[in-house]
Amino acid sequence: MNPTIRKCCSRWLHKALAALAAAAALACCASCSGEPEASNTLRIGVSLYTLDDTFISSVVQNLERTAQEAESHADLKINLSIVDGRSNQTTQLEQVDRFIARGCDILCINIVDRTAAAVVVDKAQEAGVPLIFFNRQPVDEDIRRSSQVYYVGVNAQGNGTLQGRLVLDAWQKDPASIDRNGDGILQYAMLEGEPGHQDALLRTEYSVKALTDAEVSVEKLASDTANWNRGQASARVSLWIQEFGDQIEVIFANNDDMALGAIDALKEAGISPLPLIVGVDATAPALESIAAGELYGTVLNDADGMARSMVDLSLALWSGSDPSEAVNLQDGHYVWLPYRKVTQDNLSEFMTP
Ligand code: GAL
Ligand code: CA
Repeated sequence: MNPTIRKCCSRWLHKALAALAAAAALACCASCSGEPEASNTLRIGVSLYTLDDTFISSVVQNLERTAQEAESHADLKINLSIVDGRSNQTTQLEQVDRFIARGCDILCINIVDRTAAAVVVDKAQEAGVPLIFFNRQPVDEDIRRSSQVYYVGVNAQGNGTLQGRLVLDAWQKDPASIDRNGDGILQYAMLEGEPGHQDALLRTEYSVKALTDAEVSVEKLASDTANWNRGQASARVSLWIQEFGDQIEVIFANNDDMALGAIDALKEAGISPLPLIVGVDATAPALESIAAGELYGTVLNDADGMARSMVDLSLALWSGSDPSEAVNLQDGHYVWLPYRKVTQDNLSEFMTP
């Protein structure tokens, strides 16, 4: 998060938490998880598309930490009820029903299937519960169905473009180190995330566009979905190695887990030096791989900023404060998080000691 925004939010948070603590009553009610709670407890129901996803797990860790930090500012409890949608939209809708029935104050939904967003919006609206979608972006029409619906995420076009620029910078600096066959054309392969996911579609398009806009000639050798998954990416790249040997010059992966899967396959096949490989997310294992000189670079997908914005927005909505004082709200519904390139040059800024 931009330091000015963070400063302003924490000032706001302090004020809001002090007001909440003063107003806290002792009446009891049921929590999202079914336990009785004092009414100075904010109950947030969080449903994930799956817990089996490195980036989503890091959002969860950050949510837990941020909620604890907020609690330590005031006599306030944040009850996070976190459930796994197991990639099943029916399961997730049942979880939403349960959260509402148990009296959650706020719903945070990482939707399994974005085409089901309208159903979730209608359920939340009928129950009068504010709803925050995160990371998996529903269409704008669904977000605007109700004034109490928000989206917290990263602009996929922007981080796709930055991923392309990582490769562009390297190509402009030292094309010979990338251009294995010396034909002046950049031969690449693309590992795509889940089909239909806005991050997969836009990162795929805009990463390559950053190169073609700069008039770099490119040739796509292969592309396939590996569903954000390291093992699936490794299997795809093993097949590509059989077909293209060491002639792939650059591998774009829509996320870090798939980039690491590519590296697994290339190392297993004994390909050295590795082609230039780029991901998106800046997960801990990806940062380690950059440090080891294997992954060339990644683009920050701000898990910490995402969690902070969700907690700040939840507190504002719960306490009846103006949400635009708590977070940088655009068009009344959207919180867009900043993204940045990460390479060996600035790695230390992203590694936690
Ligand atoms: C993307 C992220 C992927 C995966 C996906 C799940 O933003 O880069 O690693 O977590 O979201 O929706
Ligand atoms: Ca070439």
